[in-house]
Amino acid sequence: MRIKYIAGNWKMHKTVTETVSLARVLAGELASCKHKIMIAPPFTALAVAAKALEGTSILLGAQNMSDQEQGAHTGEVSVLMLKDLGVKAVILGHSERRIIYGEKDDFINRKVKLALAHGLEVVLCVGETLQEREAGKQDGVVSSQTEKGLSGISEKDLLRVTIAYEPVWAIGTGKNATGQDADAIHAVIRAQVKKLYSQAAADAMIIQYGGSVKPENAKELLTMPNIDGALVGGAALKAETFAPIALFDK
Ligand code: 13P
Repeated sequence: MRIKYIAGNWKMHKTVTETVSLARVLAGELASCKHKIMIAPPFTALAVAAKALEGTSILLGAQNMSDQEQGAHTGEVSVLMLKDLGVKAVILGHSERRIIYGEKDDFINRKVKLALAHGLEVVLCVGETLQEREAGKQDGVVSSQTEKGLSGISEKDLLRVTIAYEPVWAIGTGKNATGQDADAIHAVIRAQVKKLYSQAAADAMIIQYGGSVKPENAKELLTMPNIDGALVGGAALKAETFAPIALFDK
């Protein structure tokens, strides 16, 4: 049985003060949550978030990291710095990184390998654009992003990887994929993991859905057989919308 894993990607939102107050409220409201929970505040607020989450079971995540361990990389943040702050997981290959900042699969794969080598957990994001969906290319796109993102990762290290299916057309638009639509793509991703690794690896793989997840649609999505959790953007910015998703119960 796979666990449910709900993560909040705060994107470029929340000051240090705002982070402390939201993290404290979530720590209280989610104290008895049965699911695995992660929040990913911006880099500038990771240190205070780590303190606010001390003694809770909420994991601290980062939204990105450099593909290099250290060196002359102005403006980048290294895995060593993240670990030093108590970060346990990192979101990589988000569509906003792919599309706005031109990140390619091989570059993302280098980050995945570096994060895993340092003991972090990874949330690897995949997903098609509206154009690709309209051209019927979604299965090929997510299969290829999955294969390239996981290139060179051992089956043992794969246990620390979660895949997040985030159709680009559903992110921040209020238009979520239906449970059935998302489940079908999750099945494609799971089949790809089986092809690349094994049935056991496919059965164990946690695949989150992301894209306009909110309290109103969480149940429809999270009760689908291949949907093991959610990567939440906008609704993760307020306890009153994130907590009901995190506390989802069948
Ligand atoms: P929204 O929930 O705001 O659509 O964002 C999804 C997302 O990109 C999470 O990583």
